[in-house]
Amino acid sequence: MKLVKHIANLGYGSRKEVQWMFREGRITDAAGEVLYADDPLDHDAIRLDGEPLDPPSGLLLMLHKPVGYTCSMKDPGRIVFDLLPPRFRLRSPVLSTVGRLDRDTSGLLLLTDDGQLLHRIIAPKSKLSKVYLATLAEDLRGDEVATFASGTLMLDEEKTPLLPAELALLGPRQARLTLHEGRYHQVRRMFAAVGNHVQALHRERIGGLTLGELPAGEWRALDAGERAQLFAGG
Ligand code: URA
Repeated sequence: MKLVKHIANLGYGSRKEVQWMFREGRITDAAGEVLYADDPLDHDAIRLDGEPLDPPSGLLLMLHKPVGYTCSMKDPGRIVFDLLPPRFRLRSPVLSTVGRLDRDTSGLLLLTDDGQLLHRIIAPKSKLSKVYLATLAEDLRGDEVATFASGTLMLDEEKTPLLPAELALLGPRQARLTLHEGRYHQVRRMFAAVGNHVQALHRERIGGLTLGELPAGEWRALDAGERAQLFAGG
């Protein structure tokens, strides 16, 4: 791929704008030598205004989603893309969230521009578990553990029962729920089905991956080791 197209695809500008960046000498190698549009493409060696470029396509990143942001591009309110550099919206291939978290849910959200990877993560056969910490409005009785584990719980307007899920009681109104599938508003609907109400929800883990020390509202790209960790954790 030509350098101009490569840099434009990363969202830094239209091809015309990137051509101007070359003419203005803003695109250099690591030693500060000006690059030309027909130089060979060596992503890691390129600097724009002295800064390395964003990761190339094949990007997988984690975001610590705060409450108050939606995963939809179309929402008129705050969206998770507002937490990323604005040029990330202009990338080609397009960056999308891997599944969704509700506006009122915080925690681990993955984004990728790799369609195959996205499908691998959400495909039922990958069996990537998701772990949620839920704070409830009512005291837990204890029988929810067996109900969620039964594999027979039917949610309203669903045609098949939920897969068995593990519920660990952490306090009178706090529990950790591990799911092996992802249905619409699943956690909130599960607790509603047993007569409770989720007051706060936080996703702690997907497969073998957690947020670690990443603060709310921050993101970072994942390396090959972390991708392997994602699929290693089941
Ligand atoms: N289940 C929910 O109810 N909401 C989420 O955001 C994720 C899972």
